[in-house]
Amino acid sequence: MREVELPPMLVLGFESSCDETGVALYDRERGLVAHALHSQVAMHQEYGGVVPELASRDHVRRVIPLLRKVLDDSGCTFADIGAVAYTQGPGLAGALLVGAAFAESLATSLGVPTVPVHHLEGHLLSPLLSSSPPQFPFVALLVSGGHTQLMRVSGVGEYQLLGETLDDAAGEAFDKTAKLLGLAYPGGPALSALAEQGRPDAVSLPRPMLNSGDLMFSFSGLKTAVLTQVRALEGDGQVLTPQNRADIARGFQDAIVDVLVKKSLRALKDSGLSALVVAGGVGANRELRRQLNARAERRGFSVYYPELEFCTDNGAMIALAGALRLAQGASAKPAGSFAVRPRWPLAEI
Ligand code: KG4
Ligand code: ZN
Repeated sequence: MREVELPPMLVLGFESSCDETGVALYDRERGLVAHALHSQVAMHQEYGGVVPELASRDHVRRVIPLLRKVLDDSGCTFADIGAVAYTQGPGLAGALLVGAAFAESLATSLGVPTVPVHHLEGHLLSPLLSSSPPQFPFVALLVSGGHTQLMRVSGVGEYQLLGETLDDAAGEAFDKTAKLLGLAYPGGPALSALAEQGRPDAVSLPRPMLNSGDLMFSFSGLKTAVLTQVRALEGDGQVLTPQNRADIARGFQDAIVDVLVKKSLRALKDSGLSALVVAGGVGANRELRRQLNARAERRGFSVYYPELEFCTDNGAMIALAGALRLAQGASAKPAGSFAVRPRWPLAEI
């Protein structure tokens, strides 16, 4: 990381953009002090996906108990907090509003500034929470439920988009395909577990845009290809066997991982950089990690992942991004007025 002279400051961070409520305290000198998370997965499961209104209401219920836990665990008090960071977007409008309104109110009562944070910047910077963090500059592969992007990250706030998906994000493709195979929400982890039982090459699926000559992705065709496979197998009224489903999951995962790995290698080559950071929920995928680690060893580049608990949404990455932004002296604002940004391209920050 770049050397910066940092005044000590404890930053409280809130994440509430989707279906996880996250609260964390990050100290510029000591690093992550405490964090707490509540996942709404169990609540949304019976609906097969996130129900936005339920998500907002649950954030309201969880945020204060999580904050209490973080303060108790850390031994800090409100008086120690120097600034409050929160996810301003992108995400579900109602869910974002809960976190933003709470963070702004708390900061107003404490008389400290707020730092609105871009959710994807949180993901991009999350590997810096680990004990051996990457150095700038690096290539970041951002693979979450809503985004698939390759970025050149030259420093905090210095992000250049190299390529992105034209349609479905990688996580979205995992989730939709999982649904097709009858797996519970959220489908990514379940599909990836099922794929471990699948046989290699039993089901071969297309690698969309693998040879497009650029760093763009397209994943919506993959779920159609899976549907075609399912229909072909079910053609004469047969029910898919567990092995059929596992083979399809394997074929799907192999296709998506192949594209993500090859495009990441291309981004490293084109940019001349030798460090790759993988961030976002799909970064938890074991096969993706296996493949990237193998290539890194062979080709001599370094690959960094956030700790597993910081791959998916969490408050720690927001507190960290807030603290790093504050260190630049730019993004803090007086607490009070705010607006959330449900749609907010990272390039606009
Ligand atoms: O970053 P994230 O928590 O939320 C967004 O900002 O979107 O990513 C969630 C996405 C979901 O689509 C989920 O299915 C996917 O990450 N995911 C995985 C795995 N764990 C989470 N996809 C594939 N394999 C996994 N192990
Ligand atoms: Zn996320």
